[in-house]
Amino acid sequence: MLKNGKLEKLKYVGHVVAAEVLQKFVSSKTARISDVASGTGLVGEQLKTLGYETIDAVDCSTEMIEIARAKNIYENLYVQWIGGGKRLSFDDDTYDVIVCAGGFFGNGLKSDSFNEFVRVVKPGGFIVITMRAMWLDLEPNYNNGKLERDMQQLEKEGFWKLMEKDIRYKGGTCESIVTFVHRVC
Ligand SMILES: C[S@@+](CC[C@H](N)C(=O)[O-])C[C@H]1O[C@@H](n2cnc3c(N)ncnc32)[C@H](O)[C@@H]1O
Repeated sequence: MLKNGKLEKLKYVGHVVAAEVLQKFVSSKTARISDVASGTGLVGEQLKTLGYETIDAVDCSTEMIEIARAKNIYENLYVQWIGGGKRLSFDDDTYDVIVCAGGFFGNGLKSDSFNEFVRVVKPGGFIVITMRAMWLDLEPNYNNGKLERDMQQLEKEGFWKLMEKDIRYKGGTCESIVTFVHRVC
């Protein structure tokens, strides 16, 4: 945003939005949650504050996972690559919820991660994705509607159903964040 001739830095709130949206759909505080592309654990911190008790973390970066581990908010932490045909080390139907804030970005996760998401989340469980809205235009793996078409294809195939798509903070001092909530079939 341009203000007084200077570039004003917009505040990133994807992790806050992710926790708020999750809370809207998941009332049980004992729901088993996987925070994928967890980074340093910002989402986990928000969820703990909201009272969620059982949260695991997955990220491809050992460094990020070790920072998150030091916060003592996650039950289990895993260094794993998500997508690219890699199978996550979790059994089918392990989690009630996957939350992914900021994992979809320039050169980040791709839609080839969705199959594993729906495999490890129980039927009736939720997959909450939040991302900076700008990446829907800027990232070649997502733009021209590709990311959403891939989501819709999985819905057509009966794997999940879109419950909510929203864009928050359009303008103002926070970055626009797009949220997708799917329910696993
Ligand atoms: C922008 S950070 C978001 C971190 C955190 N969720 C948050 O809201 O602050 C993106 C994270 O995704 C992880 N990541 C990117 N691509 C990944 C992949 N293919 N598999 C696993 N983790 C990945 C990075 O290591 C990084 O920690």
